[in-house]
Amino acid sequence: MSTLENLSCPIDAAPLSRDERVLKCEHGHTYDVAKTGYVNLLPVQNKRSKDPGDSKEMVAARQAFLNQQHYFPIVNAILSSWPKDHLVKGVRIFDAGCGEGYYLSEIGKTLSDRDIAIERTGLDISKWAILAASKRDKTVSWLVGSNASLPMPKDRFDAVLCLFGFPVFTEFSRVLSGDGLLLLVESGSDHLIELRKILYPSIHEYKQTFSEGLADFDLVLEQAETFTFTLDSQIQIQDLLSMTPHIHKASYEGREAVKQLDSIILTADIKLRWYRKKIKEVNHV
Ligand SMILES: C[S@@+](CC[C@H](N)C(=O)[O-])C[C@H]1O[C@@H](n2cnc3c(N)ncnc32)[C@H](O)[C@@H]1O
Repeated sequence: MSTLENLSCPIDAAPLSRDERVLKCEHGHTYDVAKTGYVNLLPVQNKRSKDPGDSKEMVAARQAFLNQQHYFPIVNAILSSWPKDHLVKGVRIFDAGCGEGYYLSEIGKTLSDRDIAIERTGLDISKWAILAASKRDKTVSWLVGSNASLPMPKDRFDAVLCLFGFPVFTEFSRVLSGDGLLLLVESGSDHLIELRKILYPSIHEYKQTFSEGLADFDLVLEQAETFTFTLDSQIQIQDLLSMTPHIHKASYEGREAVKQLDSIILTADIKLRWYRKKIKEVNHV
């Protein structure tokens, strides 16, 4: 079962304690544990819109696509590139912008098969994503919240994962322990290139993100993962399209052309970067 332990009040950062189906802080702020076991720690005042993050439809499309296991090679790549001294029993993992929970759930299952018990927390700003995640896997602590202001104390985790998400490095650094690791997973230059060639009249030049480095982290390992997979129905193709930004960015003509496809072989081109939290120098006077 998920523990929902060691979390902080999103209003005043005081520690939260659990009283049956409620988390509360010493100043009287309370947060109900939902029927499916997640907690909403995104106060109204921190919301930029009424229904932030991925919509119900996007979450359903992502879940349908990921459940086909086309992206399982990414789970394998994460686990095989994880620095070995760090992937040990009891490691505390946080997935920031976890979506509907596929990766955190698959990582937990695979490690459990290897007899490595880990503690997992997933957070997303979309209540639809967290609702789906909390139905998918009951062994994870699932939270609605924002990467911009994480409802957790400092040093809470040993690893932060941010997969195709919206990193907030100061917050990731704060919640990571002394030698904690950060994993960024992003798409590479050829990711879904066959689909993009149909959707767009020309392909933009690829720009590496964070090429100047990160203030709070040192890069320890960079790995590219490329594989192909086949979608053999229009429904599968639309599920994939609906979980990508292309659904909003592509032209009407591009989307219409994709609607004519019965099947497509696609390239997945993924970039994994592992960082270690920088140790802050203490100035002795
Ligand atoms: C492209 S999806 C990736 C989801 C998941 N990591 C995956 O790879 O399946 C990006 C996710 O980030 C979430 N998101 C957007 N802004 C966020 C924020 N400020 N804090 C946390 N999550 C956020 C969205 O709701 C969405 O679920």
